[in-house]
Amino acid sequence: MMYRNLGKTSVKVPVIGQGTWTYGEDKNLAVEEVRALRFGIENGLTLIDTAEEYSKGGAERVVAEAINDCRKEIFLTTKVSAKNCSYKGVIEAAERSLERLNTTYIDLYLQHWPSKEHPIEETMRAMAYLLDKGLVKYIGVSNFTPQLMDEAQAVLGSHVIMCNQVGYHLNDRRVENDVIPYCQKHEVTVMGYSPFGYAPQFFGGIGFPEQDTKERQILDKIGEKYGATAYQVALNWILRHENLITIPKAKNITHIKSNLKALELTLSDEDLQLIDTYFPKANEGMSLVKY
Ligand SMILES: NC(=O)c1ccc[n+]([C@@H]2O[C@H](COP(=O)([O-])OP(=O)(O)OC[C@H]3O[C@@H](n4cnc5c(N)ncnc54)[C@H](OP(=O)(O)O)[C@@H]3O)[C@@H](O)[C@H]2O)c1
Repeated sequence: MMYRNLGKTSVKVPVIGQGTWTYGEDKNLAVEEVRALRFGIENGLTLIDTAEEYSKGGAERVVAEAINDCRKEIFLTTKVSAKNCSYKGVIEAAERSLERLNTTYIDLYLQHWPSKEHPIEETMRAMAYLLDKGLVKYIGVSNFTPQLMDEAQAVLGSHVIMCNQVGYHLNDRRVENDVIPYCQKHEVTVMGYSPFGYAPQFFGGIGFPEQDTKERQILDKIGEKYGATAYQVALNWILRHENLITIPKAKNITHIKSNLKALELTLSDEDLQLIDTYFPKANEGMSLVKY
């Protein structure tokens, strides 16, 4: 496994973690989900990303089961929903997450989305309280533009935002223009989500390039040179930024094995240029703000 520092800290986090969106939705899949998470953990994917919002707390319960005998080895990330971002709301949401996760602390607690309803000052004051109480070790945000990150950091004072979790994949490169450079400058970890593209119901659903498209053929062709799949090329490409980690979700163990192997290749400059041609850089920075 390859590790990177979390923000300004010397805490090492694996560059690939495990996403859990949809976990806990179907009780019949719980055994498979726990098995997948445990397989990942045993193979170094010890960072787990979840949220109170995923399956109304169901994903956190699945995670609790997967980590019950190895909590100390896990870097556990969960998120407070925007609607709960009042001062009291954040604290109560964290307490509920701690209970569902069956743990006494959260490693990294994120504001899931910016909130129009609750002032950032209130939300961050509650985050600082959770830090001071030791209920969370580090704090961060998700889907925040650099401007919003500045606003959040300004009210935090000595407490520091360690991470911004944002969508990043071949078909959505907007964060390269603003979030990634900002986070490099301020030593904040970028945690890229949806590395294989967005699900149909989100952001226009720009998923992974379909078979028989020229984009997929180019990824397959690049992969052939390294004995890798198109998915491994896509994942490896994301990790070329030094302050970035990514959190694919994979219930299928074959997929987890494939994602682990994605760390083994080094894309040549020629291949990176080819990717730029077929998956062009964005013209603008991150603009997606969901309230
Ligand atoms: N902060 C936010 O607002 C936000 C938004 C979206 C996502 N997230 C987080 O980011 C995580 C990842 O994003 P995501 O779940 O949207 O999408 P994703 O990880 O990009 O894609 C998941 C899909 O890719 C498949 N897959 C995984 N590895 C593969 C491989 N090697 N080859 C082929 N297919 C593979 C999975 O299949 P199987 O499951 O069948 O293996 C699943 O269908 C989420 O689970 C969540 O934790 C955060």
